[in-house]
Amino acid sequence: MKHEIIEKNLGLMIVLTLVAVSWGGLAQIVPLFFSDSTTQPVDGLKPYTALQLEGRDIYIREGCAVCHTQMVRPMRAEVERYGHYSVAGEGVYEHPFLWGSKRTGPDLARVGGRYSDDWHKAHLYNPRDVVPESNMPAFPWLFQQSVTGEHTADKMRALRKLGVPYTDDDIANASKVFEAGDVREVDALVAYLQQLGVLMKQKR
Ligand code: HEC
Repeated sequence: MKHEIIEKNLGLMIVLTLVAVSWGGLAQIVPLFFSDSTTQPVDGLKPYTALQLEGRDIYIREGCAVCHTQMVRPMRAEVERYGHYSVAGEGVYEHPFLWGSKRTGPDLARVGGRYSDDWHKAHLYNPRDVVPESNMPAFPWLFQQSVTGEHTADKMRALRKLGVPYTDDDIANASKVFEAGDVREVDALVAYLQQLGVLMKQKR
């Protein structure tokens, strides 16, 4: 039997296994690079405003993604708890993506609009004030530190190189909101949180 030759020859077996697995993988993955459902933004998707963009960077800096995923999986229990499952088109402007892999706290992919700005501020200042059993850390320094916006335009320029459609106007006006008044880090972070997932929430 020809199969016996393969089974008794370890080197050949390894090579053929790799070929089979790679071919299977490529056949599943490559078409996704060209499929509209994974490469086209969902309806209404806009690049982050200057304020939201700075808020997102604070989210990254503070390690929120270490405890919070942003990925609702297409399973009934998840969809009932969080809302519509996450779709690729929501993330086409995400660089880097913040899907995360550990849920010490709840998923935040659809948290936008679920609470008021005041709730978020109270929660970030000291989570125990609003959720007594919470073990989320407090982030009081976000209320003291201001966002200068000095690098916001550069960040937009970098994102534009990666395909995020920022206009010249967006970039020229990037630091305006921070010059207009004292913007604390918590304001930027809450602006970021409040838009998370709202586009798909309406479709539910
Ligand atoms: C050490 C893990 C940990 C870190 C780091 C963390 N969180 Fe949490 N978070 C939790 C836990 C646990 C809860 C659930 C209890 C609660 O609501 O406080 C939670 C809840 C939340 C909620 C409420 C979600 C809901 O649907 O009720 C928001 C919003 C949130 N966190 C935002 C943040 C942000 C923003 C950061 C970063 C500044 C952050 N978290 C950092 C653990 C964490």
